Amino acid sequence: MIHKVDFLVIGSGIAGLSYSLKVADHGTVAILTKTDIDETTTRYAQGGIASVTYEPDSFEKHIADTIDAGDGLCDENIVRKVVTEAPGQIKELIKWGSHFDKDKKGDYDLAKEGGHSEHRILHHKDNTGYEIQRALSEKSKAHPNIKFYKDYFTIDLITQHHLGEKIARKSKNIECYGAYVLNTKTNEVDTFLSKKILMATGGIGTIYHVTTNPTIATGDGIAMVYRAKGIIENMEFVQFHPTSLYEPGVRPSFLITEALRGFGAILKTTDGKEFMYKYDKRESLAPRDIVARAIDNEMKNKGDDYVYLDCTHLDPEELKSHFPNINAKCLSLGIDFTKDKIPVTPAAHYLCGGIKVDEYGRTTIKNIYAAGENASTGMHGANRLASNSLIEAIVFADVAAKSSIKTLDNSAFKSNIPCWDDEGTSLTEEMVLITQSLKEVRQIMTSYVGIVRSNLRLKRALDRLVIIHRETEDLYKRSILSIKICELRNTINNTYLIIKMAMQRKESRGLHYNIDYPMKNIM
Ligand code: FAD
Ligand code: SIN
Repeated sequence: MIHKVDFLVIGSGIAGLSYSLKVADHGTVAILTKTDIDETTTRYAQGGIASVTYEPDSFEKHIADTIDAGDGLCDENIVRKVVTEAPGQIKELIKWGSHFDKDKKGDYDLAKEGGHSEHRILHHKDNTGYEIQRALSEKSKAHPNIKFYKDYFTIDLITQHHLGEKIARKSKNIECYGAYVLNTKTNEVDTFLSKKILMATGGIGTIYHVTTNPTIATGDGIAMVYRAKGIIENMEFVQFHPTSLYEPGVRPSFLITEALRGFGAILKTTDGKEFMYKYDKRESLAPRDIVARAIDNEMKNKGDDYVYLDCTHLDPEELKSHFPNINAKCLSLGIDFTKDKIPVTPAAHYLCGGIKVDEYGRTTIKNIYAAGENASTGMHGANRLASNSLIEAIVFADVAAKSSIKTLDNSAFKSNIPCWDDEGTSLTEEMVLITQSLKEVRQIMTSYVGIVRSNLRLKRALDRLVIIHRETEDLYKRSILSIKICELRNTINNTYLIIKMAMQRKESRGLHYNIDYPMKNIM
């Protein structure tokens, strides 16, 4: 089947939905989502969304904190843009129906997280993402120009390559005309032709054994743009959240929000001793890269699988009222966080790099924009400041929407696009081949390309990956399409990019810590 839409939006999280709401009065919009509309990473966000709201906070302080966390690699102009446009975007979120908590005086109840010098995190209890997803989803479903395609898995972007032309990587002349999409209910591949395409497919956390990311986070958009020969950057900067609940074998790991440390909770080793003072003067509230490395080091020194987060000195009623979901989750495991320490361990959480975009959200491929976690905007540098990703996503969805609307009339639907070519694919693959390869990739990434890396570990990771890559490409060419084989292929593409970019960075910086290049402020 062939569909024609003005705006094709791949992803239904904060980036995809907010872009759609902004372009929908100017043309038809199709939102593709590979499972349910609300099964996004956005929905799991806990801590909140950073924005300067009241004095003594200021734009300059938020900018300085972001740049400090980013360890010298943030683009200051982009940081300034996101920070100064944040309050306007928050107003829009509120107008669309999102609620943020207020205190007894009626002022917004602002939380503090690691690396922030002021209280500036707007939140809804400890489930801010759920609240934002709910509001955006309701609003989008009500718009007559927006049509949702759920259970539609985007396989690849359509470019000149599909018209038989040869295109070189990073060429300035690549154009996108739409995408091939697998309807996972009928197993047919539809062609979506579009004038403007937004990549809003989220992150890559599922590449690692322990992750806070939901199963949809397989980095499909980044892999698609890479295969279409667009520019991908900064993939070595994978952020590990310091405090996911220690629950072996459970995927995704339940997050214990950093806002809990902002509220006064303290990290301790299993023998009850504080340790963060050895690593940073901000102690438990240092930026994430520092805290995650410190925990990793303490766990390795002691041979432990977790450390503790201690809230037992805090007001029990206040704790329960601010963090009701964490309370409920802990109680379900027999942990009363007002009396017991919570066992926590670092988990893969966020990708700072991704599809390179400019200040208008434009990728290096004509007609394709990117926003949200799959985009690399220059905001986060080598390490994202807590609660800066939802705000970056919505600001970049806004600039991308403005640019898309402005240039819509210059784009036209492309004709003569061939239908999906499935010649030679007859094999119903043995699922074990896919699941085993996925396990191996996760093992490689977890063992060699995690919080602590070395030149030898990276080389070993690449050598192992080459074999799995060859086997998977061969399987893919012969197999009848399925989500699982496509996701494995995307995972391998992204793994390759992470390892390659980690090897190219001959220093330790931010989230990329390589023991062959010592870092100043740690260990
Ligand atoms: P997502 O919300 O992940 O949406 C991705 C969409 O793309 C989904 O609809 C998915 O179905 C679709 N998709 C993917 N691949 C395909 C495909 N091949 N075909 C079709 N559709 C596809 N950030 C903060 O700023 N503050 C927080 O408090 C915070 N807390 C967090 C807590 C947790 C547990 C986690 C995991 C992250 C948290 N983050 C937080 C990070 C933040 O939630 C994410 O970066 C952000 O929500 C990503 O939004 P997105 O719109 O880019 O993608
Ligand atoms: C958290 O609540 O700790 C997560 C915040 C984030 O990832 O920005």
